Amino acid sequence: MFKVAVLASGGGTNLQSIIDSIDSGKLNCKIEMVIGSKEGIFALERAKLKGIKTYIISKKEYGDKTSDKILELTKGKVDLIVLAGYLSILEGDILKEFKDRIINIHPSLIPSFCGPRMYGLKVHEAVINSGVKYTGCTVHFVNEEVDRGAILLQEVVPVYYEDTKEILQKRVLEKEHILLPKAIDLISKDQVEIINGKARINTINNK
Ligand code: GRF
Repeated sequence: MFKVAVLASGGGTNLQSIIDSIDSGKLNCKIEMVIGSKEGIFALERAKLKGIKTYIISKKEYGDKTSDKILELTKGKVDLIVLAGYLSILEGDILKEFKDRIINIHPSLIPSFCGPRMYGLKVHEAVINSGVKYTGCTVHFVNEEVDRGAILLQEVVPVYYEDTKEILQKRVLEKEHILLPKAIDLISKDQVEIINGKARINTINNK
């Protein structure tokens, strides 16, 4: 069984989309654990409701050992680490141990509107202020550079003049909830290769 660890820092609607995809039989994997970046986030409640093991690994407590602590919990236990609204940066050995085995979902069309301090509503505010007519979401692999690993999947979402950042966030989230489980499914079926920093999706396992 393909096992994933989900890391979260907030409400956990992306975590919920993975849970729902598994429950509906669309996604054949097991959420081995959910690691929250702080106490009291609803993502942890969502996990507990499903009897999924939860941990809290906060930067406040672990400082620059945070990534190492997450590696300790996940090494040898899971096949993929999924950042689902996780606001800390992973660094150090975990990026080597889980090379090409950590994915993140970002609420824009990378490389636009991403990078340090670009998260949550700030992304959608920047999109609206820029006047672009389309935005979207991206699932990408995680490497040393923030939001710059190989892009795996993207979905486009229209931006309307009347949009507020909250309305746009909601429209993008709906697509995120489709894209993230799809990305996990592709990886679990070994249908993704990274060649020269770009992800290739093998529709059949034509290796
Ligand atoms: C999502 O918009 C995701 O793209 C971003 O953080 C948000 C998390 O939302 N990384 P949730 O906690 O999954 O509801």
